[in-house]
Amino acid sequence: MEELIEKLISAGIEPQEAKKEISILLMELKDSEQIKKIISERIKTRIPIQYILGKAYFMDFEVKVDKNVLIPRPETEILVEETVRRLINSRDMPRHVPTALDIGTGSGIIAIALARLIPDIKIIAIDVNEDIINLARENAEKNNVSEKIKFEVCDVFSNGMEEILNRNNFDLIISNPPYVKSSEMKKLRPEVVLHEPKIALVGSKENNSGLIYYERIFELITAPRNDNKRLIALEIDPSLVNDLIKLLKSKGLNSFEIVKDYSKLDRCLFIFERSVKSGSLLPGY
Ligand SMILES: C[S@@+](CC[C@H](N)C(=O)[O-])C[C@H]1O[C@@H](n2cnc3c(N)ncnc32)[C@H](O)[C@@H]1O
Repeated sequence: MEELIEKLISAGIEPQEAKKEISILLMELKDSEQIKKIISERIKTRIPIQYILGKAYFMDFEVKVDKNVLIPRPETEILVEETVRRLINSRDMPRHVPTALDIGTGSGIIAIALARLIPDIKIIAIDVNEDIINLARENAEKNNVSEKIKFEVCDVFSNGMEEILNRNNFDLIISNPPYVKSSEMKKLRPEVVLHEPKIALVGSKENNSGLIYYERIFELITAPRNDNKRLIALEIDPSLVNDLIKLLKSKGLNSFEIVKDYSKLDRCLFIFERSVKSGSLLPGY
């Protein structure tokens, strides 16, 4: 195993990625010739192992992935874990069946994980095109949670989004939105630049600030509506945190919390709507 990891590292693949990919390969394949062949292809093409195999792991389950969707990241596991902890520990955990909206569901990992972890939850998961939504739906079926999740094609910037919010009283709005600045895209690892979908990283339009999805989500949640008290859970890029705090305050969203990832980088933003008096950075929900 160490030898295989070293081979990937010396070909310029990041150690953390190399370790993860080799463990997936060894789990999936027994034939050492086949493993060697895939490693050569991996090095030559820079296509991540998950796309070569057509599958990836998130938390404790497997999903199908293809070139239309992002490979699940470990940081997103933190978003899900911290969200579930807040929902379940909250004194305000809804007594009714909890409802959630997953914006930009991609392979469906966030919605599927929530459906596996929270009994009775009902989720709407949206993404921008049919191919992505079909893949997410297939993943939900494979993981036996399709009755809990309704998948819809919807552009977050369209009026359809307001309609979804007007039709439902969500207890949770969760998203790992595209947050790579347009100008930074080319600076990412070759695996990401060459093979992961730009729409998942930068988004469906120019994203010079990296903030356009957050701006849209803040606009949606601050629009007058007859809502429940909601938790908003967002994955963020650590470099955006100061801009995001300014943006939150300018929108009057003063009750929020930033949670770090395992590398001690700011990674999740939780906004507590109408739950507490404004003006505080909360230590917990
Ligand atoms: C960073 S990826 C996250 C995917 C998945 N939730 C995950 O965590 O792996 C962002 C997702 O937002 C979707 N997206 C981009 N632009 C969108 C838009 N205008 N409306 C809805 N979804 C969009 C992309 O297709 C992509 O699946």
